[in-house]
Amino acid sequence: MKIITESRPASAIEAQALVSYAYEEEPINGRIEEIDQAAGGLLKRLATGGELTGKMLEMTLIHAPMGLKAERLLVVGAGKKEKFNSAELRKLAGAALRYLKTRGVKRIAFLARESDMNAASAQSVTEGLLLADFEGDKYKTGKKKSEPIEWAALAGWDVASGADKAIERGRIIAESQNFTRELANEPSNVMTPKVLADRATEMAREMGLACEIMDEKRIAELKMGALLSVAQGSVEPPRVIAITYTPANPAPNAPVLGFVGKAVTFDTGGISIKPAADMDKMKFDMCGGAAMIGVMRALAQLKPSVKVMAIVPATENMPGGRAQKPGDIQIAMSGKSIEVLNTDAEGRLILADGITYARSLGCTHLVDAATLTGAIVVALAGVNSGVFGTNQAFTDRLLASARAAGEKMWPLPMDDEYREMVKGSVADIQNISNSKGGGSITGAMFIREFVDDVPWVHLDIAGTAWYDDTKPWMPKGATGVAVRTLIDLAMNFTA
Ligand code: BES
Ligand code: MN
Ligand code: ZN
Repeated sequence: MKIITESRPASAIEAQALVSYAYEEEPINGRIEEIDQAAGGLLKRLATGGELTGKMLEMTLIHAPMGLKAERLLVVGAGKKEKFNSAELRKLAGAALRYLKTRGVKRIAFLARESDMNAASAQSVTEGLLLADFEGDKYKTGKKKSEPIEWAALAGWDVASGADKAIERGRIIAESQNFTRELANEPSNVMTPKVLADRATEMAREMGLACEIMDEKRIAELKMGALLSVAQGSVEPPRVIAITYTPANPAPNAPVLGFVGKAVTFDTGGISIKPAADMDKMKFDMCGGAAMIGVMRALAQLKPSVKVMAIVPATENMPGGRAQKPGDIQIAMSGKSIEVLNTDAEGRLILADGITYARSLGCTHLVDAATLTGAIVVALAGVNSGVFGTNQAFTDRLLASARAAGEKMWPLPMDDEYREMVKGSVADIQNISNSKGGGSITGAMFIREFVDDVPWVHLDIAGTAWYDDTKPWMPKGATGVAVRTLIDLAMNFTA
């Protein structure tokens, strides 16, 4: 999809559909009133008649609108004005695109309201459109349900608003998030650890990033016992992907961000096998790793001033003749011993070695993202990602980035009392809690054992990484959550 800017007045814009939006409980005013006047009072009549209310994502489609050059006018409900923000604008633009594309529209103009004439809004609209145009129907043969949009013209921004640069930035971010979604949507028979490593290598080459792949031999040399214990049940060998972005003039002793992502390309649970119902969803268990690879794709182009490394341990979690068994004791790369009481708590095992490896490479600040626990879905449903941090200042920075990026994230506690719950009886630690409740917190506490004093944030994205159903602004499947937040964190990171 091409995204261009358009400077003609609304009534003169030629497109198959002109899109704008109206707030709930607000009179038809501003830009939308200009359209109303060109169209002979049509919008005010619809509002009076109760057909156009401005309720969030209400769609009012008018064909051959009088007084406008556009073939259609789509007025999208924006909800209450005081609740409207860039996250709502992103969704709204996406929902408009998906509504129109199912009606055969390929060329649209998006007219910003008078309060959204800034660069940040142009970026949000760009992201919303590109994220919405992405489809998860790659393996459907024959005619697709809807064809991609040819172009979208952003109208209402003047040159001084910086919209052009914002569109470019939005494109880089959204295309990288879509890259993550593409990786994550692949079924596990396609997306094995080896293939994930190949895709990361190819992306890094295209984007000019350094990329190193550790194979099973190298992983064994590095003594990544926790990762290997998960991988040993599968015929597919594990990989560790390490991608590095280095800024042009790195200061000596400057901080290094380490982004560690869980990539279990399929999680059967291992010998502690999962029930059959919905097990297919466990192809999504590499969403954390896919997010980190997508983040690096964006950073290569946006060029932050901080050095950033992505470390992605990738493996299958399978039951098999050589699979680890409940009660097995493993030695992690850090030297800590782990009693594996449940082979389905595998994400924390591979993250343990991923984090130790990131620290050995000199990362001074760590963020991990993982589809780690079903318990986070109980706590926060599919709305918020869970945030766990040990350093308040770093956690606050991440939460600020999440807000700026329009990704909902919510902090959860990490009191010392929870630490007792992962203390081992026969090894240093055990991979599941020794008491009831707090499953997401004890998962985080386990990972913390490998972090020590390094500022670190753990994101549990098990509830947010995947839409089970299509939303008005996005098809079902991988969401690419955390990509925008971590890009924002890196772009604004100073020691
Ligand atoms: N990948 C799963 C987490 C998960 C479960 C995501 C259900 C989405 C839905 C993870 O590896 C896992 O199996 N976690 C266990 C941990 C338990 C054994 C302590 C879980 O959450 O049940
Ligand atoms: Mn599991
Ligand atoms: Zn898992």
